[in-house]
Amino acid sequence: MKAVAVYPGKADSVHLEDVPKPLLDDVPDGRGVLVKVLRVGVDGTDKEINAAEYGASPPGDDFLIIGHENFGVVVEVGANVPDTICPGTYVVASVRRPGSSLFGQIGLQDFTTDEVYYERGINLLHGYLTEYYVEDSDFVFPLPASLRDVGVLLEPTTVAEKGINHAFEIQRRLKIWQPQRAAILGSGTIGLLMALAARLRGLELTVYSLPRKPYRNADLVEELGGTYISSADHTLEEASEERGPFDLIMDATGFSPIVWEAAEVLGKNGVLVLSSITGGDRRAEINSDKINQGFVLGNKVMVGTVNASPADFRSGVDDLIKAEAVFPGWLHKLLTTPIPGLENYDQMIRALTDDRDAIKVYVEVAQNGAA
Ligand code: BGC
Ligand code: ZN
Repeated sequence: MKAVAVYPGKADSVHLEDVPKPLLDDVPDGRGVLVKVLRVGVDGTDKEINAAEYGASPPGDDFLIIGHENFGVVVEVGANVPDTICPGTYVVASVRRPGSSLFGQIGLQDFTTDEVYYERGINLLHGYLTEYYVEDSDFVFPLPASLRDVGVLLEPTTVAEKGINHAFEIQRRLKIWQPQRAAILGSGTIGLLMALAARLRGLELTVYSLPRKPYRNADLVEELGGTYISSADHTLEEASEERGPFDLIMDATGFSPIVWEAAEVLGKNGVLVLSSITGGDRRAEINSDKINQGFVLGNKVMVGTVNASPADFRSGVDDLIKAEAVFPGWLHKLLTTPIPGLENYDQMIRALTDDRDAIKVYVEVAQNGAA
């Protein structure tokens, strides 16, 4: 079968690879789930992998099948797969896999303390930009058929989910937390999904991001009932004076200096969630005393998050269902840029690198339901 792969370490090496179709019994103990891939989203991580900035192939292979934002339909299941997953069920598989850390053993491989981490389509494990995959049912999450059209957004949604779920988890320290105002930094796919997650939890929403209006992503923020502020017109401090103080700030800009401004304007008892994977070596001058004092006197928290635990996949499914009910059609608008078929991987990479207007670029791997 066909797969889109790169040679890690070799820039612009994206190509079609011919690989054997996986077998149900590749996963032991009857826990295998054979899935026909329907759609796969791509993001900055895939771009970086193809630019040889990131990623590693599985031991024994010189190539890595890319693609981690998967969506598919179950074809066949092993004898010990729970009955929530059966042939015909739409599913999304998670990305991280356990290593040797204790956290992996308890299902929290996103909290691994190992130096090496395993992520399908990213690091040391093949991904989903192919026709079929087999996975252990522990890592496969069912979606209702009503999410057929937007299910490919689940994996990126889990980045937002984990961030906001952990913010609430952390705030149990307060005994009473009644957050009112959230600021999301960045208005790409993750920023928009964070904005959605915040609105679904009843928070007043401000999205702070570079482009000026008119801007489609700003319209999407306003459709959620949020306010969009361009960093070209206002500092984050001004935005906070106007719309804050913020109880929750979540960053998805990819621009690390903004984090220190956010730390400065974060409200008392607030939580600042960081999700940008910034591979560079940017430095920033910061108001160190002011930030430090604000954190101490204001009991603030700054927390990093890398996607994601099973609980975040499950709450992600719930939020996609709620989103379709509360903001009908909104999720569909994120699916701006379909690429027809695995063989159009060149077009996929071009859309990812050159199309400034794209929100979600995704490959239509196969059209219909069961195999
Ligand atoms: C993926 C995550 C992954 C992270 C780090 C992101 O693009 O969506 O699943 O944990 O990259 O590799
Ligand atoms: Zn990703």
